[in-house]
Amino acid sequence: MAEQKITTSVIREKKIKGEKITMLTAYDYATAIVLDESGVDIILVGDSLGMVVLGYDSTLPVTMEDMLHHTKAVARGTKRALVIADMPFLSYQVSTEEALRNAGKFLKEAGAQGVKLEGGREIADLIRKITSIGIPVMAHLGLTPQSVHQLGGYKIQGKDDATAKKLIEDAKIVEEAGAFSVVLECVPAALAGKISQAIAIPTIGIGAGVDCDGQVLVINDMLGMFERFTPKFVKKYCNLNAQMKEGVKKYIDEVKSGAFPDEEHSI
Ligand code: KIV
Repeated sequence: MAEQKITTSVIREKKIKGEKITMLTAYDYATAIVLDESGVDIILVGDSLGMVVLGYDSTLPVTMEDMLHHTKAVARGTKRALVIADMPFLSYQVSTEEALRNAGKFLKEAGAQGVKLEGGREIADLIRKITSIGIPVMAHLGLTPQSVHQLGGYKIQGKDDATAKKLIEDAKIVEEAGAFSVVLECVPAALAGKISQAIAIPTIGIGAGVDCDGQVLVINDMLGMFERFTPKFVKKYCNLNAQMKEGVKKYIDEVKSGAFPDEEHSI
C-alpha cells in the first residue's frame, strides 16, 4: 500500500499529537527523490536557491521563473512529502492581483501544494486572500531574508521585550489570517517556545530552538556542501564537500594515469 501523502491537515494534526515535523529544502529532482524516500514531511523549494544554487549573495535577485523552474523539478521527484514553494521578492508585494496570480502558478504550473510568504501583520490580508482561493500558505517570521537591508543584516530577531511582543502578535495574526504553519527564523529559543504555545498552527524553526513544532534546514548546509560560512544553528550531518572533492580528485588521477576506464567500465 502506498504511504500516506502528507497534506496540510497531516501537518496540523502532527502538532495536536505532539509529533515533530521535519522540513528540508530541495531545488532539484534528484535531491527531492532522496528527501521523499527518506521520509521528510515537507520539502521547501526555498528562495535560498539564490544563494546556495545560483551563487547570489542574497535571495533578492531570485525570480518567479527561477522558482517555477526549480519547483517543477522538485515536484516531479516527490510522491509523499508536502511541496511548498517560496514566493520570491517582489512576486507578492506589489499588488494583490499579481500576488494571487503568482501564488496560483506554483500550484497550477509547478505542482506545489502551497506557498511560503515572508512577513506578519503587513501581509495578513494577502494571506486571507490567497487561502480564500484554496492555496495553503506557510508564513515566515523573525529573520526574513527578503528584508535583509531593512533589518540591517542577518541578525537574531526578537531579542528585546518590544520586538518579542510584536513577534508573538504577528504569529497570532498570521494564524488568524489562515496560514497553516509558520517558519520562525533566528529567534531566541525561549521566545520561539512561547510562540509555539500561543498558537494552534505548527511553528517550524530554523535557529529557533527545540521547542518549535518542527525544524527546517537548508539541504546544502546540513549536508556540508559548503566550506565557507556556516551559521551557528546549522548542524552538518555529512561532509559532502570533502567527499565530493575526494571523488573528483580520484577521478582526475585515474583519468590521467589511465586507470579509468578499466575493462569493467569499457564496452
Ligand atoms: O529560503 C529558504 O530556504 C527558507 C528557509 C531557510 C526557511 O526560507
